[in-house]
Amino acid sequence: MSTAISPTAYNYKVVRQFAIMTVVWGILGMGMGVFIASQLVWPELNFGLPWTSFGRLRPLHTNLVIFAFGGCALFATSYYVVQRTCQTRLISDSMAAFHFWGWQAVIIGAGITLPLGYTTSKEYAELEWPLAILLAVVWVTYAAVFFGTIIKRKTKHIYVGNWFYGAFILVTAMLHIVNHMSLPVSLFKSYSLYSGATDAMIQWWYGHNAVGFFLTTGFLGMMYYFVPKQAERPIYSYRLSIVHFWALITLYIWAGPHHLHYTALPDWAQSLGMAMSIILLAPSWGGMINGMMTLSGAWHKLRTDPILRFLVVSLAFYGMSTFEGPMMAIKTVNSLSHYTDWTIGHVHAGALGWVAMISIGALYHMIPKLWGRPQMHSVGLINAHFWLATIGTVLYIASMWVNGITQGLMWRAINEDGTLTYSFVEALQASHPGFVVRAIGGAFFASGMLLMAYNTFRTVRASQPAEAEAAAQIAVVGAH
Ligand code: HEM
Ligand code: HEM
Repeated sequence: MSTAISPTAYNYKVVRQFAIMTVVWGILGMGMGVFIASQLVWPELNFGLPWTSFGRLRPLHTNLVIFAFGGCALFATSYYVVQRTCQTRLISDSMAAFHFWGWQAVIIGAGITLPLGYTTSKEYAELEWPLAILLAVVWVTYAAVFFGTIIKRKTKHIYVGNWFYGAFILVTAMLHIVNHMSLPVSLFKSYSLYSGATDAMIQWWYGHNAVGFFLTTGFLGMMYYFVPKQAERPIYSYRLSIVHFWALITLYIWAGPHHLHYTALPDWAQSLGMAMSIILLAPSWGGMINGMMTLSGAWHKLRTDPILRFLVVSLAFYGMSTFEGPMMAIKTVNSLSHYTDWTIGHVHAGALGWVAMISIGALYHMIPKLWGRPQMHSVGLINAHFWLATIGTVLYIASMWVNGITQGLMWRAINEDGTLTYSFVEALQASHPGFVVRAIGGAFFASGMLLMAYNTFRTVRASQPAEAEAAAQIAVVGAH
């Protein structure tokens, strides 16, 4: 397809590339999720080989879904939103191309090294130092392209969506660099510069803010652009969006210790993390309400528009998981939930219900526009996808709640003489039905992604080079 460069055109090439890779990595990452979920049902699927074992494939799943699928969705939408709201082309095509190819290289590197067992052993920061350095270089390039484009904007004002994307970019850089400070001892092995409780604290400061800034703030940037666009309504309250922004980024950074309750971390730090997590409910719900209320007067559109349904249901799951999170941060609740499938259910309420659903909605909005088509090839298939995703998420999280509470209660049950009532294996046996339901829910969700791939393929194939070219022209009138 022709991608002739005109100074009056947006750089849609990199947006299209990231959009396609979001679908591809979504299928692979969620496919891997279904596979590891099946390993927990049928352990024979570990095949007795080290590189196909659950322990090695689990981090591959998390890296593929968070950084490959989630990352590509954030890059595609942020490049689309920043150009359209600033009414200008990205500052550099070659830097954007380096960002795209560099990121794919990091992911392929993860796909090779993680199954081979090369890992720092820090969750969500597993990649060994050569890949971590490449990731940092790619990230700084992304930051330069994004902020450079904001600087050369043609509009006076910086749309709030860009504030969220900007915070996500800056804080992720800081987290990645600080948490990865380490001493390499060979090409594939390094040791953290921190030790003991400090190392744990830094790791969960990183881990929680990876959730807060990568899996939340960036996706809120997406929400602030695509929800008003798809609903064809202005955002409910611009003032609330500014309060929401500052409150969210100020509070998130303190909540990490809720991952380390009842550990060697000083008690005051745990209590501070708990208190900050509870306060975090307020800005989280502020954002959720701002998104939901944008539909005032447009609720009827939900009847006919499955893309809007994806966006609104994602906000509902965002509200739900940010209610659940503060509850789980309360120490007494955490003493039951920690180590159990309740945490896994919470993670996927956020990951499937919020992160994946909002990304899918945003992509369905964006793909026809990127290829100059009036709409996706099939609205019926979007609708089918919506139901597969919603039912899949509900099956996943409901089964994990049942499992989590069952496990927590069985582990802590004691007989009158102080001995344990249940052995670990008995709790595992009780979890088996939940594992089956989760694998089915995951398969529902992943099969929806296959429908999306087909629908995208047909939409892209129907595009004519001239239509695609026209789509990239910078709109002269109309803000965004
Ligand atoms: C106000 C918002 C939130 C709070 C206060 C919160 C709190 C918590 C708490 C207390 C845990 C359990 C820690 C443990 O026992 O180990 C947890 C785990 C987790 N949450 Fe949240 N959560 C929030 C929102 C979210 C959202 C929206 C997502 C996803 C998009 C998310 C993703 C995760 C992940 C991935 C973990 C597991 C970390 C791990 O142990 O590997 N959280 N969260
Ligand atoms: C078809 C969809 C999916 C399935 C079937 C699935 C399945 C799984 C399974 C079986 C685990 C391991 C649980 C355990 O150790 O007991 C897991 C962990 C995890 N998954 Fe997924 N997953 C899916 C989609 C996603 C998506 C889209 C994301 C993020 C955007 C995600 C993020 C995570 C995270 C962060 C963990 C680690 C949780 C923790 O350590 O507490 N998953 N997933």
